[in-house]
Amino acid sequence: MAEARQRAVVVGASSGIGGTLARELADAGYDVGLTARRRELLEGFGRALPTKAYVARMDVTETEAARESLHEVADAMGGVDVVVLNAGVAFENPDLEWGPDRDTVDTNVRGFAALATAAMDRFEAQSHGHLVGTSSVAARFGNGEAPAYDGSKAFVSNYLEGRATGRVASTPT
Ligand SMILES: NC(=O)c1ccc[n+]([C@@H]2O[C@H](COP(=O)([O-])OP(=O)(O)OC[C@H]3O[C@@H](n4cnc5c(N)ncnc54)[C@H](OP(=O)(O)O)[C@@H]3O)[C@@H](O)[C@H]2O)c1
Repeated sequence: MAEARQRAVVVGASSGIGGTLARELADAGYDVGLTARRRELLEGFGRALPTKAYVARMDVTETEAARESLHEVADAMGGVDVVVLNAGVAFENPDLEWGPDRDTVDTNVRGFAALATAAMDRFEAQSHGHLVGTSSVAARFGNGEAPAYDGSKAFVSNYLEGRATGRVASTPT
């Protein structure tokens, strides 16, 4: 009997690290769910993948809609084995203006936690799954150029480290 195909959702797959990771996962045989705000990029990108791609527009700062969207993509894929929370923003903000700091916390912290809890709900229900998040070396120290970014990545790292001790394994990167 053929083995069931593995399925991964990459949140923040429209460019950069997330796009490359989605491609790597597809090359490794995963069906891939692609989410981000720029749906047209995801669609073009999905067509070029060697496995089946599922696309959904998602803004992680719209937390309730984003959580629903994650479940919808996972349902369409027939389940999900890996969720990669890669969506993130980075602003240099040495003058500590509220706008960039708000957007950083909304995306990298609030959005991350909203999607992490939704993913873990699924993994708990199905008794397996891997939660992966994109942190940064910036999690290890603060600097004056981007203190909110550094703090947000410390949140991501510590959150994943905490989850790794939970009932379902997760994988900090
Ligand atoms: N590049 C580096 O040197 C570096 C180093 C360490 C860690 N990282 C981390 O790696 C991750 C990816 O960064 P990157 O360098 O590849 O940057 P990037 O090309 O700008 O990618 C960021 C991704 O996040 C998505 N995103 C941003 N805000 C979002 C939102 N509100 N809702 C949904 N998706 C959103 C973007 O998609 P849309 O704009 O289409 O929504 C895009 O797909 C980030 O978490 C970043 O902090 C990067």
